[in-house]
Amino acid sequence: RGLGVIVNMRDFEKYAEPMISKVAWAYYASAADDEITKNTNASAYQKVVFRPRILRKVAQADCSTEILGKASSIPVFISPAAMAKLGHPDGEVNLTKGAHSTGIIQVISSNASCSLDELCAVRSSSQPLFFQLYVNRNRDIASDLIRKLNKLNLDAIFLTGDAPVGGKRERDLRLKGEFEGPAGGVAVKGEGESKGVSEAMFAGVDPDLNWEDIKWIKSLSDMPIVVKGIQCVEDALLAYEHGASGILISNHGGRQLDTTRPSLDVLLEIRKHAPQLLRPQYRGPTGLIESALKDPQRLIPKEEVKIGKVMDKEGNRPFEIYVDGGIHRGTDVVKALCLGANAVGVGRGFLFAQSVAGVQGVEHAVGILEKEILLTLRLLGVNKLEELRPSMVEVKE
Ligand code: FNR
Repeated sequence: RGLGVIVNMRDFEKYAEPMISKVAWAYYASAADDEITKNTNASAYQKVVFRPRILRKVAQADCSTEILGKASSIPVFISPAAMAKLGHPDGEVNLTKGAHSTGIIQVISSNASCSLDELCAVRSSSQPLFFQLYVNRNRDIASDLIRKLNKLNLDAIFLTGDAPVGGKRERDLRLKGEFEGPAGGVAVKGEGESKGVSEAMFAGVDPDLNWEDIKWIKSLSDMPIVVKGIQCVEDALLAYEHGASGILISNHGGRQLDTTRPSLDVLLEIRKHAPQLLRPQYRGPTGLIESALKDPQRLIPKEEVKIGKVMDKEGNRPFEIYVDGGIHRGTDVVKALCLGANAVGVGRGFLFAQSVAGVQGVEHAVGILEKEILLTLRLLGVNKLEELRPSMVEVKE
């Protein structure tokens, strides 16, 4: 039956485990310490429940969108996850090709196991590509890399801020000595001696990276910058103040500081304390709003039909909010969007998908997500992502 046995995103993980090396499994599946954040990232979505509407003519439902102005067939991008070659010989090439054929966007990891040139060689001419930046402690190397991104016409920089050092990933540590060093990462290479995969990954990362460095990156590139790893509202505000065009709320899939809050809680905190960062239609309360009872036929109030934007500090681009960590289901995606996210990222899911079946695995994964998202929209009584609103969910505390 081929890939037909894989019917949801978690199935990829199940099928990948016996197929890939134990080093690859430890690196992909692991998270920091007791892996508590990794698990609560996913379970947190259970406290958000839907308030579906019925009899809403949903045959024409559509889940396409734009991310930083680039078309995406679903409101999901490939979060940057390193070392795809550990799971499949073609590595990140699978992600680039699969992203193109399905119309989604890949964020390439600084520690990709394929070189940027390799990935750009298989990139279709119109294909948007984002790049996740780890800033090397040697700023000449870092500047050269940013110039290279410009030259290759990459479309955005996701600056990872939650990894000044690598988290303690114990599954990885137990296999120390079995890993031979990064197979050709783009920016940051370890010394290649006996380290676990993640220790080797972080050997070159600058732990002194700070908010002022956004200015430095902006002096080298016009690409929009998204700060990745936002875990509280204060830092969301700082990212905005420093001129970011977006934030990716993330705890690195629970791989950095364990027992941080699930990403979803950070989105809820931003809703509460910095609603100005959310597009106007997402600032309202969740659940039943009294005014809806006055005109129950309307899915959303008349004055809210068109969604407003928040511009970045310089007024150049719309400011966007993304979230990743623990997203496995179309329902998770739609919940995050109801609460104000523009799009979400999936990390491990795509790594496992390409491990199981290369490009086809990535295509199958996008197909699963797309079907689940469309199903969720229809069962929620919605035809377009722009119709999603906080009032369509309730958050159980
Ligand atoms: C990651 N992640 C990550 N993030 C980043 O900014 N640079 C990187 O190189 C990596 N590498 C990486 C490797 C692996 C194996 C994983 C699982 C993750 C974090 C990634 O971008 C994302 O935040 C999480 O994977 C999201 O959580 P889920 O979707 O895996 O639950």
